[in-house]
Amino acid sequence: MSANFWKSRSRASAGGNSADKPIAIDLFCGSGAVTTAIKANGYRVVAAVDINRICGVTYRKNHPEVIFKRRDIRSLQPSELAVAIPTGKQLKLMAVCAPCQPFSSQNRRRGAADTRAPLILESVRLARALKPQLIIYENVPGIAASAIFQRLKRSLASAGYILGIPQRVDAADFGVPQRRVRCIVAAVRAPGRIKDFALSTQGSERVTVRDALADLRPLSSGESDPYDPLHISRVHHEITLRRLAAIPQDGGSRDSLPPELQLECHRNRDRGDFCDVYGRMRWDGVAPTLTTGCTDVTRGRYAHPRDDRAITLREAARLQTFPDWYRFAGNRSQIAEQIGNAVPVEMFRRLVSALRRSYPDA
Ligand SMILES: C[S@@+](CC[C@H](N)C(=O)[O-])C[C@H]1O[C@@H](n2cnc3c(N)ncnc32)[C@H](O)[C@@H]1O
Repeated sequence: MSANFWKSRSRASAGGNSADKPIAIDLFCGSGAVTTAIKANGYRVVAAVDINRICGVTYRKNHPEVIFKRRDIRSLQPSELAVAIPTGKQLKLMAVCAPCQPFSSQNRRRGAADTRAPLILESVRLARALKPQLIIYENVPGIAASAIFQRLKRSLASAGYILGIPQRVDAADFGVPQRRVRCIVAAVRAPGRIKDFALSTQGSERVTVRDALADLRPLSSGESDPYDPLHISRVHHEITLRRLAAIPQDGGSRDSLPPELQLECHRNRDRGDFCDVYGRMRWDGVAPTLTTGCTDVTRGRYAHPRDDRAITLREAARLQTFPDWYRFAGNRSQIAEQIGNAVPVEMFRRLVSALRRSYPDA
C-alpha cells in the first residue's frame, strides 16, 4: 500500500472487498471516507448506516458492494446489520464517527442539550448484538470531557468492552495536508487488553498544500477544468476579486487590505475575530480545518495560494485526501458539505493501520 494511496489515480489501489478479508461495519458512514480508509487496510466492509440521503447516494456510487442502510440509527435493529455478516465470520471492526457538533467548542447548545449527543451510545446497543472485536470512535476532542463520554465508558463496560484512553491527533501529523484536530479512542472486547495504541508520527513527512494542489490547472474566477467536473471556480463578485487581488499570494491575510476594501463588519472587531476570512493558504504549509463552507472565502482561510479565487471542490477533496476517482452526488453546496464533514481518508487509514498493529486480533 502506497504511503499516499489517496494520490493514486486508480481505484485498483483502494483494496477490494473480497470474501476472505476481516469484516467491518461503518456507523455514521457519511459519504464513505472512513469506509474507503478501512478497505484500504484490507478489511471487507459489509454494512454501513447514515441518515443523510445525499451521503447515501455518494456512498452507493463508491461502495456498491456494501449494504447501505439509510436510517436514523436509533431505529436500526442489529439484525439488519447482522444479515450482512457472512455465516461463520466474526465482526472484527466497527467504526463509529457520530456527529461531532454536540461536543464542538463552537456549538452553543453543546452537551446534553443537543439531542444528537446521545447518538454515539447507539453503538453500544449494536455492539452488544454484533460483538465486534474492536470499536474505533472518531470525534472532536471536546467529547473526552463530556458526560456522554462517561456514559459511553460505563455502557461499554456493561456490554463487555474496555474503552481506552482518548488520543488527541492532528490530521496534519498523519499525511493529511490540513490541520484538523480530532479525538480517537478504541474499545476492545474483554478479556482483551487495551493498550495505548502507538500513534507514532515519527518519520511521517508533512504533506503540504503544494503537494496536494500544485498539479491542478490554474483557474480564474468562474473558470473550469474541462476534464474535471469538480475543478470549477465559483464566480466571485467584482468587490471580492478586488479584495483577493490585494491579498498577497502564498499565505496573505485580509490585514493587507487597504481601508477602502476592508469590510465594515471587520473594521470594528478585534483582530482575532474573522481574521482568517479572505486569507490565502500557504503553499508550504497545511490548510486550515475545512468546514462545509470550505469553498467560500468569506467563511475562512479558503482562498487559493496563487489564484484570485476560493479553492474548488476538487481542491477541497484533495485537502481531505479523497482520491480523485471518488465520485460525489449532489449540487455544489451538497458536495462541499460532504467534503467538509468527512473524516480525512488518509488520517483514518493510518490510524486503523496503527490500531491493527496494537490489536492483532482485529
Ligand atoms: C462526522 S459525520 C460522519 C463522517 C463519515 N464517517 C466519513 O467517513 O466521512 C456524521 C454523520 O452522522 C450522520 N447522522 C446524523 N444523525 C444520524 C442519525 N440519527 N442516524 C444515522 N446517521 C446520522 C450524518 O448524516 C453524518 O453523515
